[in-house]
Amino acid sequence: MIVLGIETSCDETSVAVLDGEGRVFSNVIASQMQAHAAYGGVVPEIAARAHLENLPTVFEEALDQAGVNVADIALVAPTAGPGLIGALLVGLSAGKALAFARRVPLVGVNHLEGHLFSAHLRTGGQPARPIEYPFHGLVVSGGHAELVRVEDGRIVPIARTRDDAPGEAFDKVARRAGLPYPGGPVVDRIAASGDSSRYALPVGRVRNGSEDFSFSGVKTAMLREFEKRGVDGSPLDADNLPAGLADLFASFQRSVVTALLQRVETVHQREGIRRLALSGGVAANSELRATLSRWGEENGVPVLLPEKTLTTDNAAMIAWAGLLRFRREGAPDLDTIVARSRWPLGTA
Ligand code: KG4
Ligand code: ZN
Repeated sequence: MIVLGIETSCDETSVAVLDGEGRVFSNVIASQMQAHAAYGGVVPEIAARAHLENLPTVFEEALDQAGVNVADIALVAPTAGPGLIGALLVGLSAGKALAFARRVPLVGVNHLEGHLFSAHLRTGGQPARPIEYPFHGLVVSGGHAELVRVEDGRIVPIARTRDDAPGEAFDKVARRAGLPYPGGPVVDRIAASGDSSRYALPVGRVRNGSEDFSFSGVKTAMLREFEKRGVDGSPLDADNLPAGLADLFASFQRSVVTALLQRVETVHQREGIRRLALSGGVAANSELRATLSRWGEENGVPVLLPEKTLTTDNAAMIAWAGLLRFRREGAPDLDTIVARSRWPLGTA
């Protein structure tokens, strides 16, 4: 069975071809980062136009690399939400046209569900790892922080961010320091040479017994530190930073990672985590990967880390999540599938 995944929810145009066991035959990603870099964030209108421009080429290339024809496609799986409406509509409409013309089923995929199951996928021609339920999923990206329990056929939300997403905090802090967009990978690299114990930055906590995340406190603390140092957003060279800044970034990263670890630990104490799957753009962060792996070893909990190429937005994870849903529920009528800017995990 050949599955075609299409991802256009944000600033990556991606098309992937998988087989029924989750083997990734192709996963072509055209990043629009350059187009948005000057604005320090994603501009919705630019994103939609760029998807429209890129999609035909990305589509052709994905089929070519996989060595399949349009006639081989048995299931179409575009992202239907959450994301930028104009951007989503490009991939969803293309998917619908294809499914309609070829008379094959289509499932509209929840982007977060795509991330959630991405740690099970493997590139390099291997089938996906078997999924064992229940597992806990920590999805951390530029738009989301979600901790959920995944049972066979049900996703139970446990915690989410009340304000900034962790990737958003990385991006905003980097931007205010004059570092390039996206900030996550840059800060990750800078932090590696810094002393994270040098500054005691706040670790986000939400009161009233909630496990929800909060990252605006540490972000604000960073902006105050920048002000004190006269860091005003003029371009900085990441390889040649003013004294103390590497330590500051390392302390920031430590605070974000600690906040995530603390929630995982609390939830483990309360309900016992059998296995943990990390995902989303921030799952590329080296300190987060190392910290959660160590936690897993110490607590006897297997921790699944996604391959780095599958952490940021890609259509392989969308095709995979679409296939899992299709196996469970079949496909709805084409005209009932709409693009949704909001679509919380675990809701139909
Ligand atoms: O999942 P993704 O591609 O898009 C969303 O759905 O949001 O995540 C992108 C986010 C950006 O905020 C980026 O800065 C962050 O992931 N990111 C990282 C790293 N690589 C990407 N954050 C921390 N460390 C990294 N190494
Ligand atoms: Zn994403």
